[in-house]
Amino acid sequence: MSIRASDKAQRFTESVIREMTRLAQLHGAVNLSQGFPDFPAPEAVKEAARQAVAADVNQYAITWGARSLRQAIARKFERLYGRAVDPEREVTVTCGSTEAMIAALLAVLDPGDEVVAFEPFYENYGPDAILSGAVPRFVRLHPPDWSFDPAELEAAFGPRTRAIIVNTPQNPTGKVFTRAELETIALLCRRHDALAVTDEIYEHILYDGHVHVPMATLPGMAERTITINGMSKTYSVTGWRVGWAIAPPVLTSAIRKVHDFLTVGAAAPLQEAGALALDLPDAYYVELARGYDQRRLRLLPILEQAGFRAYRPAGAYYVMTDISGLGWDDDVAFARHLVEEIGVAVVPGSSFYQDPAQGNRQVRFAFCKKEETLAEAERRLSKLRPK
Ligand SMILES: Cc1ncc(COP(=O)(O)O)c(C=O)c1O
Repeated sequence: MSIRASDKAQRFTESVIREMTRLAQLHGAVNLSQGFPDFPAPEAVKEAARQAVAADVNQYAITWGARSLRQAIARKFERLYGRAVDPEREVTVTCGSTEAMIAALLAVLDPGDEVVAFEPFYENYGPDAILSGAVPRFVRLHPPDWSFDPAELEAAFGPRTRAIIVNTPQNPTGKVFTRAELETIALLCRRHDALAVTDEIYEHILYDGHVHVPMATLPGMAERTITINGMSKTYSVTGWRVGWAIAPPVLTSAIRKVHDFLTVGAAAPLQEAGALALDLPDAYYVELARGYDQRRLRLLPILEQAGFRAYRPAGAYYVMTDISGLGWDDDVAFARHLVEEIGVAVVPGSSFYQDPAQGNRQVRFAFCKKEETLAEAERRLSKLRPK
């Protein structure tokens, strides 16, 4: 007998981001690697969860999501973006948007299909495509504004293209795709009869007047878009694992089947709390964005002072930086130096690229942290010297 892992499982590595969090703990470093807030979740949302547990909402919810949460998801999408969503036939609640993405891809991809995605990319998309048997094709986003070349995008679409993954606002770059850019993508989707799978988990975290445009609101796109979102970032509850996919009924049926056999369902009492959270007034989201803007404006000068070239994010809560000015051309060695000697954990840029060499002069900082954490990072980073 030979015991071995599957070919699929051998084609990708452990998550570098989650690994950096473990290293941060090991070295007592300030953790600016993984994107989770170190400040409390909203009191009203926590109270709703406590009440749901006390009221014995403790058994399986409907596999594709508690009706109250699905209705809140539909209500919120229509309120914000003006498009009606049917909570009975177009919404699937999952264990985080992470499960929504893999369930969606497993539901629509066949072996040999191709999936287009932009790079640098959120590191889950590569393994998600591989687990679905598909081949990822990456299109570069170019700093400093992380724009893409429309000709390069067009060249990435071919007869086997089944879908494109779009993340806006984007992790790790903070890029917010403009309506014009999304229209360029939409045109290719329609021309190649491809789906758009959009990760919109940072929809409310926007700066400098940038606006979030959901792909599903563009003409002719609702019927070919799977919109993925979740509670993690908007309500500062990354540990709750509540996410969802909005998709046309025929795709929703497939996503629901895959989801059911992957996980059965997301935590029932937390779904009830989600129903309350999604009905929070607009002021909540304004304050969320304002708080993150403050943190962004706090971190950017710290990084520049320390010798990084920092690319100013338009959305989300990360800063991509260039480390060349510090004399480093090996992001992994630099990140190790930073966590072990300086006491700050970041994510090496190479983990966001298919070809690691493309990211070897970049590292990503997360700023979803309270003032004390950022102040401590400032103190430690002031000790960083060029190599
Ligand atoms: C772009 C993006 N999508 C998805 C996730 C994970 O979200 P969830 O907690 O809903 O699984 C993250 C977390 O960092 C992310 O940055």
